[in-house]
Amino acid sequence: MKSIVITGGAGFIGSHVVREFVLKYPDYQIINLDALTYAGNLANLKDIEGCSNYTFVKADITDAGHILDIFKQYLPDGIIHLAAESHVDRSISDPLAFVMTNVIGTVNLLNAAKEIWGEDFSGKLFHHVSTDEVYGTLGDTGLFTEQTAYDPHSPYSASKASSDHFVRAYHDTYGLPIVMTNCSNNYGPNHFPEKLIPLCIHNILNNKPLPIYGNGKFTRDWLYVIDHARAIDLVFHRGKLGESYNVGGFNEWQNIDLVKELCKQMDEKLGREEGKATQLITYVKDRPGHDLRYAIDATKINKELGYQPSVTFEEGLSRTIDWYLENQDWLDQVTSGEYQNYYEKQYQ
Ligand code: NAD
Ligand code: DAU
Repeated sequence: MKSIVITGGAGFIGSHVVREFVLKYPDYQIINLDALTYAGNLANLKDIEGCSNYTFVKADITDAGHILDIFKQYLPDGIIHLAAESHVDRSISDPLAFVMTNVIGTVNLLNAAKEIWGEDFSGKLFHHVSTDEVYGTLGDTGLFTEQTAYDPHSPYSASKASSDHFVRAYHDTYGLPIVMTNCSNNYGPNHFPEKLIPLCIHNILNNKPLPIYGNGKFTRDWLYVIDHARAIDLVFHRGKLGESYNVGGFNEWQNIDLVKELCKQMDEKLGREEGKATQLITYVKDRPGHDLRYAIDATKINKELGYQPSVTFEEGLSRTIDWYLENQDWLDQVTSGEYQNYYEKQYQ
């Protein structure tokens, strides 16, 4: 039986990765290691929490001693590392939290893996889950490939870039077996409503303004979260050691067009008169250091591993909205308490 530690498994993407592995690989023992910060929520995994091949361990990856003890106890063959501070706006107000979790936390995991694996790396793998934001920003044309030079601009992307460099350094220096994935913007169920799509869904439901940073012409490349989980599964099992793979769906949207599409679908689903939600669109102060455009060239993962997204954007967005409409208690739970303070401070 393979033992796999998935860090950040109670978060948005992590919970979909945990579910994919628990259900698809009954012979694997899946250990979800998560600190349960504001972004971690065990309700995301209610449907699989009783599975015999699933274990949850509450731990903070900045605590090196605790991480080593857990690794010694569970002796993982694989680590899939998603735990992170993930929101760009929060990184602007509190960069150090991002250094602690994303940089120090990653190095702690690398050290623990190196210690328990010793010199024998056969059947072992450290899969680091990273982001396209490490590449910085594109102009109106071009795509990020795996060869694009790193050029991060926000404290979040700088911390992720740093963690990527450490992961590669452990491969080059100690021979640690690693793979890496750099994915574009995800969307889907369980997305915390500090990010653009779930924030707008929540605000449309509550007839609150939809804050669009700057002129709204910033562009992101959106991928349905389950398709990211599928890509992680593929690279974890078939990726070449030491390599990184860009993951995306060739699906670019300017923020303003995306929010208008969301408004259209929400009005239809809520039986509201057409154009009602778009009236909530409000242009607000831009994000400092805001990257203009991200777009992934996913040719390598497609050609080498046969990866294709399974869901069109229209279908994925429709499924996402349906999930939020059917899970308003989840939204109510995560938007109470600390979220209100964050929201007031961020949007005043
Ligand atoms: P998220 O913020 O929804 O979840 C992060 C999870 O990590 C939470 O469960 C949280 O409790 C946990 N965590 C945070 N700090 C921790 C710590 N110190 N110790 C242990 N656990 C801790 O994030 P997400 O959007 O699911 O992103 C997951 C990973 O994927 C991140 O590494 C992120 O950089 C990367 N990524 C995200 C996107 C995206 O669009 N969201 C795209 C590409 C890559
Ligand atoms: O590209 C991958 C990255 O995507 C991940 O690494 C990050 O973890 C994830 O948070 C996401 O980062 P972004 O900054 O692109 O996502 P966010 O949803 O915060 O913003 C998407 C775009 O929408 C961006 O151009 C900023 C804009 N925006 C965002 C918010 C929250 C607004 O216009 N208004 C808002 O209120």
